Amino acid sequence: MSEGGIKIRASVPAKAILFGEHFVVYGKRALATALNLRLNVEVSDRVGSEGGYHLIVENIPSFGLQMDLRGVDTDADADAQPHPQPFLNYGEASRAIAYIRCAIQYMERRYGHRVEGGGGGGRGVEIRVSSEIPLSAGLGSSAAVSVATIAALKRYFGLWNGDLEELRADAHRVEEAVQGKASPTDTAISTYGGYVVIEGGEVKRLHDLPEIELVTGSITTIPLGAGAEHLSELRLKTRKLVEAVKARKEAFSSVFEYIASAADVLTVEAIEALRRHDLARVGSLMNINHGLLDAIGVVPRELSELVKLAQDAGALGAKVTGAGGLPELGGTGTVIALPAEGQSAKLETVMGLTGASVRNLRTKARGLVVDVEENRCS
Ligand code: MEV
Repeated sequence: MSEGGIKIRASVPAKAILFGEHFVVYGKRALATALNLRLNVEVSDRVGSEGGYHLIVENIPSFGLQMDLRGVDTDADADAQPHPQPFLNYGEASRAIAYIRCAIQYMERRYGHRVEGGGGGGRGVEIRVSSEIPLSAGLGSSAAVSVATIAALKRYFGLWNGDLEELRADAHRVEEAVQGKASPTDTAISTYGGYVVIEGGEVKRLHDLPEIELVTGSITTIPLGAGAEHLSELRLKTRKLVEAVKARKEAFSSVFEYIASAADVLTVEAIEALRRHDLARVGSLMNINHGLLDAIGVVPRELSELVKLAQDAGALGAKVTGAGGLPELGGTGTVIALPAEGQSAKLETVMGLTGASVRNLRTKARGLVVDVEENRCS
């Protein structure tokens, strides 16, 4: 139904945290990079519609749905909102659109933009999301959808002032509203691309680190027996894991402090090693970082096995990336492995034997790109 008028396309990269996830939530340093997998959000006029927002989510690996968000009521309970018509019946998994709904509400509250619903022949707004980034896999799909939606809506409503840090902070607030406490790492990478180090909660871009190859193995399949209640927990996975780590920190506070300090030193050493292009050392530091993540309880059996397989197959290093995984969700999550020169094909084959979806990716991908298409004939 979308035709004429203006179409904005915002495209952002996936992220991988190379060092320091979880510990970054407690002020330690983390190093993250953008991967060459992208998520796109298109915002355009929807002429002849009943007004309001029309949302189409397509091509997100393992998931697709379509729904109307007419006259989003900013104060209403999320469950009172209209239900989606899924391409596939994923029931409660449709809550994954929470970030988009929250981004719309945030824009209305912060910038006073309201798209009225109801009344045929009106002008609505179409939001179309397509993605190569698997959901809930630790590759930054939540931050990516938040950054790209806010960027496209700001540009569409004429609110774009070119301030990337303001955009990142907007998207970070959306992420926190949906999932609770979060570091700025994921939204920084979606916005800026390249490499960033988070230091004391501040984002610093690192321009002098080299692009490298990484093999990623993502476990995205939820066990058949998981049931709708577990599917709905997917959106809360990061929150649950951050809370589980907090509980462990409180139960073992002095030990946790040593582990977190070790993670902080690892991040600094890894940045230096990357700068020197000493990949053997970077890999060894990844292995140590993985051990620390295991110590704080975010490595389920499935991801642990994937890391061991990669290490045994000759990877220079391998680790869980991002929030990690939960056994009750089938260990969904992602492992990154650093291949030795010329060894990536072997690594991909071995990691693929587990059923994980394996990708050969590059770091230092480009950050947010916004394109505007104007149809003057409308
Ligand atoms: C999630 O991608 C990374 C965590 O460190 C949480 C955060 O940094 O907000 C687990």
